[in-house]
Amino acid sequence: MSVREEFDAWAADGRDRGMEDRHWHTAKPILARMPVEDGDTVVDLGSGSGYAGRALRDAKDAGRVYGLDGSPEMARNARGYTDDANVAFLVGDFDHLPFADDSVDHAFSMEAFYYASDPHETLAELARVLRPGGTFFCAVNYYEENVHSHEWQDSIDVEMTRWSAAEYRRAFRDAGLHVAEQDNVPDRETAIPPADAFPTDGWESREAMVERYREFGTLLTVGVAP
Ligand SMILES: C[S@@+](CC[C@H](N)C(=O)[O-])C[C@H]1O[C@@H](n2cnc3c(N)ncnc32)[C@H](O)[C@@H]1O
Repeated sequence: MSVREEFDAWAADGRDRGMEDRHWHTAKPILARMPVEDGDTVVDLGSGSGYAGRALRDAKDAGRVYGLDGSPEMARNARGYTDDANVAFLVGDFDHLPFADDSVDHAFSMEAFYYASDPHETLAELARVLRPGGTFFCAVNYYEENVHSHEWQDSIDVEMTRWSAAEYRRAFRDAGLHVAEQDNVPDRETAIPPADAFPTDGWESREAMVERYREFGTLLTVGVAP
């Protein structure tokens, strides 16, 4: 199944808003850490419901935000969630970023990068479009060390790339980006029931759920264009 078919179906049955609710727990502190300044141009790769662009405009006065998504239905929904003319939603693929060289101040991506058909090409594209000193804040919950995420591929027909933290760093450097920082951003908002509630539908033990949300959380890798 293509990205378009898969995620058009998600958008049509409201899963765009469900993702926003879940991803916001760690996206919020990550967006707060981005060095976006008044008037900057920012790109959100795999924008889904478009919450990141809305937040960067509201909280950081980003000048113009472009949400890029391979699903026309996601982009259509996202357009409907804001009337801000300085947030644009484009339909396109991570393999070719529709921006001129050195034209983007910062880029963000939450739970989307690993769907790229060629993640190395996507990083090369980011290195091309980012201005010197521009950053790419890449946030993923699906990655090698997060053993609780490994089964996710079974429930989605789009191929996902599962890199380790070290593989992210290496790929960023291979693309010509410096790695400014990398860490695990904990999700402190997902409610974890008391021990006697386990096993639950989703979790065998409380320890596993604590590890998934409070310890592994979201892997953030920050690349900087030289
Ligand atoms: C899991 S959703 C995450 C959406 C949003 N970033 C969030 O945090 O809720 C992944 C999004 O990336 C988009 N996407 C996946 N692969 C893509 C690709 N190769 N090119 C463009 N968009 C893609 C999907 O259409 C989908 O909207």
